[in-house]
Amino acid sequence: MPKLEVEGVGAFDVEEGKRLVLAIEEDAGVDILHRCGSYARCTTCRIEYLKGEPEKMTRAELEVLESRDLLGQVRLSCQALCDHDVSVRVLMTVSSTGLDGPGPKPEPRITPDPEWVEKPA
Ligand code: FES
Repeated sequence: MPKLEVEGVGAFDVEEGKRLVLAIEEDAGVDILHRCGSYARCTTCRIEYLKGEPEKMTRAELEVLESRDLLGQVRLSCQALCDHDVSVRVLMTVSSTGLDGPGPKPEPRITPDPEWVEKPA
């Protein structure tokens, strides 16, 4: 089972292949935002990897991060699966932003259908 460590919260064993945004929300109990419903549009599910940053990303993640000048600064937890041990810092939550809720519930699979590309150096 992969281990998910969330800074300031703790470490959790999570189901292999679980969508990272859902593991952060359900297993770690963090009120992370996913305002677009986890379709790689809003970037509110953004995280920083403290350990275990994946070398691959979805094309949808790459494009939205590029378009918002966020590439190299954050990653999107809705575009990642728990398939190895990671440590993350969650950057936007309901409690830190004062928004009225996290957003529509993400589907269990990565949406849109992922096309995997290498993370730019
Ligand atoms: S980009 Fe909107 S939830 Fe990930």
